Amino acid sequence: MTHHVGITALGTAIPATSLRLDELAALRGANPDKYRLGLGCDSMSLADPGTTAVDLATTAAQRAIRHWGGDVDQIGFIAVGTESALDMSRPLSAWVADRLGLQGHVRSYEVKHACYGGTLALRQAVEWIGSGAARGKVALVIAADIALYAPEHPGEPTQGAGAVAMIVGEPRVARVIPASYPYSEPAFDFWRPTGEPFPRVQGKLSLDCYKRAAESCFRAWAEDSEAPFNLEATTALCFHVPFPKMVKKAFLHVGEQLGWPEELATHTFDTKVAPTMTWNREIGNSYTASLWVSVASALRGVDPGTRLAAFSYGSGCGAELLLLEAGPEARASAWATDMDADLAGRHFLDIPAYEALRADA
Ligand code: HMG
Repeated sequence: MTHHVGITALGTAIPATSLRLDELAALRGANPDKYRLGLGCDSMSLADPGTTAVDLATTAAQRAIRHWGGDVDQIGFIAVGTESALDMSRPLSAWVADRLGLQGHVRSYEVKHACYGGTLALRQAVEWIGSGAARGKVALVIAADIALYAPEHPGEPTQGAGAVAMIVGEPRVARVIPASYPYSEPAFDFWRPTGEPFPRVQGKLSLDCYKRAAESCFRAWAEDSEAPFNLEATTALCFHVPFPKMVKKAFLHVGEQLGWPEELATHTFDTKVAPTMTWNREIGNSYTASLWVSVASALRGVDPGTRLAAFSYGSGCGAELLLLEAGPEARASAWATDMDADLAGRHFLDIPAYEALRADA
C-alpha cells in the first residue's frame, strides 16, 4: 500500500439544537455532577424532528468538498459509516450521493459496525487508493449518526449527533499510516434489533469490552517492533468518546495493564487525551463520528508532521488503533471555522421543549 494516502479535506456538521446536561439532570432528578463529572459531558446535540443522518452527512460532505476545492466528478468512491440507516437495503450513501449529484463510475456503499463503521470506511478508502483501483480519483468517506436512547435509560445523558466527512487522497490534512492495530470479539454489549427505535445496552459489559479492546490494540502497537512511531512521540491520543469518562477509564486501564507508572498515565491523559475531547463534551456521543470529531479537534492548528493516534471502538465489538501524521493544511484547519460557528449558533432546549421532542420520537 502506498505510504502517501490520507485525509485531503475535512468537513463537520452538527444539528442546531442542543440540550445542557444540567437541564436533563433536573428533568430526571439526577445530581448534575453525575453527568458533568461522573460521565464528563456538558451538553448534547439533538436532531430536530425530520432531520436525519442524511442531512448531517450531506452538510459535512458539502463542507469537505468546499475545503478540498475539487469537483464531484473527481470522486470515485463514497462510503458512509453509520448506525442510523434509513433502510435495510438502500445504502445511506445513495441518499447522500443523490444530494451531491454524484453518480457514474463510483463505488457507493454503507458500512455498519456500530461506532466503528466510519473508521472501517476510511480504512477501505485508503486501501482502495493504495491498491491502484482509484486511478487518480479521490474517495469521500462520511461518518454520521444520531444517537438516542429510550427516555430515562441510563444512556440518555450520553446522547448526541454529528457527522464528519473526509475527502481521502493526498494527505494534505493528515497521512494515514498503513500500519494499524485491529481487534474484534463477538459480544452483545450494545445492539439495536431490526425495527426497534433504541439500542439495547449491557452497560457494564460495554465498558469492559471497550477497555479490553483498547488494551489489546495499544498492546499490539507497543509490541510492534516496526511501528513507525511510539506513544512518547505522539502528540495527541484520540478515542471514540461515548462519554469522556469512558475514555479516561480505558486509558488508565491500558496504562495499568501495560505497566506505565501511574503518574505518567495520568499526566499523559491530562496532556494528550483530555484536550482532544473538547468538542465531544459539547456534542455528546455521535457514534461513528465521535472519534473523528476528536481527531478533527486534535488536528486543529498543528504543525506538519505532528503525530496522532486514533482509537476506534464499535460495539459488537470491533476496534482499531490508527496512526496519523498531520499534513500541511492542518495548521489552517478550515473545518474548525465551521465547527466554531455551529457550536456558537446552537439553540438550547428547555425541559418542556426536550420532553416535546422526545414525545414526538
Ligand atoms: P449509570 O449506570 O447510570 O451511571 O450509567 P453510574 O452509576 O455508573 O455513574 C456514572 C459515573 O458517575 C460513576 O463514575 C459514578 O461514580 C459517577 P465511575 O465510578 O464509573 O468512575 N457519579 C458521580 N460523580 C460525581 N458526582 C456525583 C455522582 N454520581 C455518580 N454526584 C452507563 C452509565 C455507561 C451504563 C450509561 O451511561 C449507559 O448505558 N451508556 C450507554 C453505553 C455506553 O456508552 N457504553 C460505553 C462503552 S460502549 C461504546 O462506546 C459503544 C457505543 O458508542 C455504541 C456503538 O458502538 O455504537 C455506546
